[in-house]
Amino acid sequence: MSKKTNRVTDQSSFIGSKLNFSGKEAYNLLRTNIMFSVRREDRRARILGVTSSVHGEGKSLTSINLAYSLAENNYKVLIMECDLRLPTFAKKLKLPPSAGLSNILAGIETDQQNLLHKDVLIKGLNIVQAGDIPPNPSELLGSKQFQALMNSLVPYYDFIILDLPPVGEVTDALVVSEQVDGMIVVVRQDYTNQSDLNYTMRQLELVDAKVVGFVYNGAAGKKGKYGYGKYKKYGKYAYAKKRDS
Ligand SMILES: Nc1ncnc2c1ncn2[C@@H]1O[C@H](COP(=O)(O)OP(=O)(O)OP(=O)(O)O)[C@@H](O)[C@H]1O
Ligand SMILES: [Mg+2]
Repeated sequence: MSKKTNRVTDQSSFIGSKLNFSGKEAYNLLRTNIMFSVRREDRRARILGVTSSVHGEGKSLTSINLAYSLAENNYKVLIMECDLRLPTFAKKLKLPPSAGLSNILAGIETDQQNLLHKDVLIKGLNIVQAGDIPPNPSELLGSKQFQALMNSLVPYYDFIILDLPPVGEVTDALVVSEQVDGMIVVVRQDYTNQSDLNYTMRQLELVDAKVVGFVYNGAAGKKGKYGYGKYKKYGKYAYAKKRDS
């Protein structure tokens, strides 16, 4: 495995309408697979969690592009930045820093509507930023307030996507897993370490997380170009096995 270096500086160039054709196709395929993999309860949003083993594997990029792809198909989507420790949405989406999830959960900000950025990037896609960095992220995400917030939001969306921190580094993704209908695990070519991923999968199994599949981010394309994602359903895929496409 090569060193964990990020390959780009302007992150917005890999998001939404700026994606190239193969990038868009990869996320459309992910969207289609999700539609079949995650059951929808009557009149409530499907809650998807996106996590990985370590930082920098592409969780936030995957969350945003999946949300975009769903909104492009006329679904009403909310993406929540649940990485309260190292938020990146403001930079990625060129949004002004704002109060957000942490402020709501801590009871500092009660006007939720005010914190929903209306139709960011594309019609039908709302975003809640992480907000001010709190001293106790796991506690906030595992709180009754988080559960109550989710319950209050599910009637208004088709999908709620939680961009989570990595399982191998902090417990935050594990504490919200009970709220999640389908957990997606991102692995990144030449980056994800097999033992880190094994550890992550064990942790997710211990909390009975409903892992629905893996996104294989950065897979080399036919022409050796740096790609975006492949999705494999859980059970049919041998963790972070390297593939040529
Ligand atoms: N397939 C890709 N092609 C090009 N750049 C990518 C790709 N995947 C991720 N990146 C870049 O790698 C960096 C890390 O991606 P991202 O922020 O989505 O990862 P993350 O898993 O959310 O990281 P963190 O754990 O720090 O939150 C970003 O600069 C992003 O633009
Ligand atoms: Mg991230």
